[in-house]
Amino acid sequence: MCGIVGYIGEKDAYPILMKGLKRLEYRGYDSAGVALLHDGELNLYKCKGKVSDLENHVANQSTHGNIGIGHTRWATHGPPNDVNAHPHLSGDGKLAMIHNGIIENYAPLKEELTKRGHVFKSDTDTEVLTHLIEDIRNNANVNLFEAVRIALNEVVGAYAIVVMDKNNPEQLIVAKKSSPLVIGIGSEGDFFVASDATPIIEYTKNVVYLEDEEVAMINRNADLKIVTIQNQEKTPYIQELEMQLEALEKGGYDYFMLKEIYEQPRSVRDCFRGRMNLTKGMVRMSGIDTHEEKWMNAKRIIIVACGTSWHAGLVAEYLFEDLARIPVEVEYASEFRYRNPIINDDDIVIAISQSGETADTLAAIKLAKEKGAHIFGVCNVVGSTISRETDSGSYTHAGPEIGVASTKAFTAQVTVLTLMALAVAEKKGTIKQERLHRLIAEINSIPDKIELALKSNDIVETIAEIYKDASNALYLGRGYSFPVALEGALKLKEISYIHAEGYPAAEMKHGPIALIDEEMPVFVIATHGHSYEKVVSNIEEVKARKGKIIAIVTAGDTHVKKIADHVIEIPKSDDVLVPLLSVIPLQLLSYHIAVMRGCNVDQPRNLAKSVTVE
Ligand code: G6P
Repeated sequence: MCGIVGYIGEKDAYPILMKGLKRLEYRGYDSAGVALLHDGELNLYKCKGKVSDLENHVANQSTHGNIGIGHTRWATHGPPNDVNAHPHLSGDGKLAMIHNGIIENYAPLKEELTKRGHVFKSDTDTEVLTHLIEDIRNNANVNLFEAVRIALNEVVGAYAIVVMDKNNPEQLIVAKKSSPLVIGIGSEGDFFVASDATPIIEYTKNVVYLEDEEVAMINRNADLKIVTIQNQEKTPYIQELEMQLEALEKGGYDYFMLKEIYEQPRSVRDCFRGRMNLTKGMVRMSGIDTHEEKWMNAKRIIIVACGTSWHAGLVAEYLFEDLARIPVEVEYASEFRYRNPIINDDDIVIAISQSGETADTLAAIKLAKEKGAHIFGVCNVVGSTISRETDSGSYTHAGPEIGVASTKAFTAQVTVLTLMALAVAEKKGTIKQERLHRLIAEINSIPDKIELALKSNDIVETIAEIYKDASNALYLGRGYSFPVALEGALKLKEISYIHAEGYPAAEMKHGPIALIDEEMPVFVIATHGHSYEKVVSNIEEVKARKGKIIAIVTAGDTHVKKIADHVIEIPKSDDVLVPLLSVIPLQLLSYHIAVMRGCNVDQPRNLAKSVTVE
């Protein structure tokens, strides 16, 4: 987490840094800071709060300088306050540094440096690294580039750093390991640095993604020199960005989350475009075709993911077992990586990640790779670390997702996973041609059905008004709708801070039923299909305890309408595809409740979009 941005060139650095920080606020937003170099002066501004607080803090002060660095923080070491905010300075005040990641051995390093006379002002691991670089530069009598390289050999942990030297306005030094960092190459001898390409896109499309353990020296009006921390020279690999600037704007919506909810008809279509042949009833996924043998011989699929992506993984468990008849295990990446899991070389590991940067998911991939499994990535961010670390994969093509609460990324993940399950099922012959044809045709109509599901917005808003002050909420579903119940509950707690739990509807009687009283809203996914009657019985059980029932039903349903307090209709669809529709009103519901409660929908407290620490 944490967003980092840097600029060196002829332009004014401050507006570039501030605009960049606003784009990166999804990575953390508990404090922010900038350092600017001008006429031999190093000006440092930082404070607790959001980037807009920093803007107010800096107002009326000098912001000159055409070299600078900026940071927006998600606290790991030390609480969010003015002192712990980045940039941090070296003891002699000559170096300013910003950092994303965690220096795991910062405590012994700090102890050692303290013995050597270093005095620290903050609680951060970042300040320790800044002092270490200073110490090496002074004692080993080397230049800053070399000092950074040597220092990073002593570091255990993750980092993306940018270092600026008060006495050298012509240079920025950057480095990365396990935290993303991209360098933009401007057309006027200028350079941009950032955690992702979003702050860079409006200035240049030419970028270099730094690899792990690489250090780069960026010289104004000159070149980019890259070495590994082991001092091997590397040639910068310049790539062209495909991202469009408009995709990063709110487009008239009050919040990114709402915009992203409404983008789903398009994002789901973008996701399956070119991958299905309606006439032939075929699904083509190049990541599967090129490793067909692996899929044909797979004895097991292990899915690793976190958060909403883990919920998409749970949907995939139903999909792959039901359609392709391959056993599936769905794992929290953070548990999997430390469990000494049994992994065989005929296992396929699917890593699902919107950002493609989640530290736990990345570590799980590395572990599974070491043990010989084939790794398939389902990522949204093109060129992200996970997409590069995996053996094969499929992008979800949902476009940039800025709201911290994931919406369109989830439906795109579920779409890709559905296509994958169908592609494998077709190859294995575990699905009847007739069913395959019908499901492909149904997937093709999902964007229109999402459009219809979005029309529930007014009724959802009315329901939100009634339950906005609830302290607890329960979400129930069975089969393919169980993961959606979990996702609905997660959406509500993430952005409205109402305690919510998702449960398999039948499992409710083994615990949560004790919580039900007339104050408790219970959201039930009760669409027509395999377990409709069973869910209706569960609704009756809630009703008998005076719980308030809000049911998501298939359009035209009359039975549940009679027993539920409220119903929200979604279009009829096959059980397999219901998650793509039933999640829509639940996303809208959380959004409206959060807005009504005055919460910051796009930047909920304590959360970050991209969790690059474990
Ligand atoms: C964070 C985000 C969630 C996301 C999870 C996994 O917690 O707030 O929205 O689902 O990370 O992120 P990933 O990028 O790996 O899907």
